[in-house]
Amino acid sequence: MNSIENLSQDSLGRRYFLETYGCQMNEYDSSLVAGLLEARGYTPTDDPGAAQLILVNTCSVRDKAEETALEKLRSIAHHRRRNPAVRLGVLGCMAENRRESILERIPEVDILLGPDHYDRLGDLLDHPNPGQKLTSALGPDIAQTYEGLFAAAPAGSSAFVAVQRGCDMKCSYCIVPTTRGPERSRPLRDVLEETRRLVAKGVGEVTLLGQTVNAYRADDGNFGEMLSALDGVPGLRRIRFMSPHPRYFTEPLCQTMAGLEHLCHHIHIPLQSGSSRVLRSMRRQYSRDQFLRIVDRIRSHLPEVALTTDIIAGYPGETQAEHLETISVMEAVRFDTAYMFAYSPRPGTLSAEMQENLSAEEKSARLAEIIEVQRRHTYERLDSCVGATQEVMLEGASRRNGEEWIGKTTHFRKVVLNPGPEARAGLVVQAKIIARRGQILWGELA
Ligand code: SAH
Ligand code: SF4
Ligand code: F3S
Repeated sequence: MNSIENLSQDSLGRRYFLETYGCQMNEYDSSLVAGLLEARGYTPTDDPGAAQLILVNTCSVRDKAEETALEKLRSIAHHRRRNPAVRLGVLGCMAENRRESILERIPEVDILLGPDHYDRLGDLLDHPNPGQKLTSALGPDIAQTYEGLFAAAPAGSSAFVAVQRGCDMKCSYCIVPTTRGPERSRPLRDVLEETRRLVAKGVGEVTLLGQTVNAYRADDGNFGEMLSALDGVPGLRRIRFMSPHPRYFTEPLCQTMAGLEHLCHHIHIPLQSGSSRVLRSMRRQYSRDQFLRIVDRIRSHLPEVALTTDIIAGYPGETQAEHLETISVMEAVRFDTAYMFAYSPRPGTLSAEMQENLSAEEKSARLAEIIEVQRRHTYERLDSCVGATQEVMLEGASRRNGEEWIGKTTHFRKVVLNPGPEARAGLVVQAKIIARRGQILWGELA
């Protein structure tokens, strides 16, 4: 009998191990997969050696992300060799994009599923292809929004909700449109249903996910309408979203955002570069000045907002003057935090064909300068909170000391405090900020 059949016929007590790399979208997808498996009687384990089904959800965004996932796969493949009943599966962006190199380097892999095919997993386990070692489902499915499927609720008080899949932008450096296919929006009714279910399980904060999330446009609503509808969900305290594209922060959207009660005072607005020439080459669809005007527009509607960003250092052809233009936009905007990366060529993207003018060391040096500027801004922004009273949503007990908890402000700033005996994840307290240590604030109950 085929061993996958074995696996499915005795699914009671079957364990799965699922490790996730990459962005929040991958984390969300993993909770979708967890929901599907748990509905079939699988239970999670942290020990790949105790699992019959070992899954790794992978990321292709930079070379390092791919190497880390391959390393992980290599380190757990022996469980598959040792026990023929074990199944080893690769999910996510690398499954889509790196099929050949995965199979070449990790021949033990049995299952390859791209991001649009997770609903096939149950079927694959129940009805394996007899005699065929590898089962795979790859390629974009433009209709796939996982309609009617809901992710497993997380342990804590905040949850991700995918509202859009894929991406229609063609940023020159980015592999995501290749791995995740064209953009499509999940029906608003499903977004609302999933949110209500999460709130019923104790979730107080949702982060809406999409690659250009503010371009969300379903048959039953657009992005502004979705935010307004979620603002009215009873029990939901906080709404965030990731990642918007600068060009979709229109005047009407900013007006809508300003009128919402539960939208957090934090917006992630990816800059990538501060040079108009580099932005054109990246195909980002905004110039340096347009980006600065969009920031002004957001701040004119949400004066208290904290802004975070993504920056790429050392894009092909970037001159020293263009690198300094990125720093000058950082100086002008003063982001609260930034996710900063050295450019990594991704085979198959437009910019991978371009000649790189910088060595790895030179790219790292530019990245280090950007990180240093950002550190100064982050400290400045955090220092300006000291003395103020802020609303903090508790997330979990600190590992350092059982009485201390970690929580977040609406601005996405981390605060450590002792909330007293009432403490539980999701509780919202007023805290007086007393100090900053590194990138973390310390507070006491106000
Ligand atoms: N859709 C989102 C996120 C894309 S991936 C957005 O547009 O903002 C997350 C970040 O990874 C990007 O914002 C970019 O800063 C970075 N990134 C993507 N491709 C990269 C590459 N080839 N090299 C370095 N950083 C990259
Ligand atoms: Fe990649 Fe650009 Fe799409 Fe973001 S908007 S996922 S950077 S192609
Ligand atoms: Fe990585 Fe795919 Fe997300 S490439 S960043 S896991 S969309």
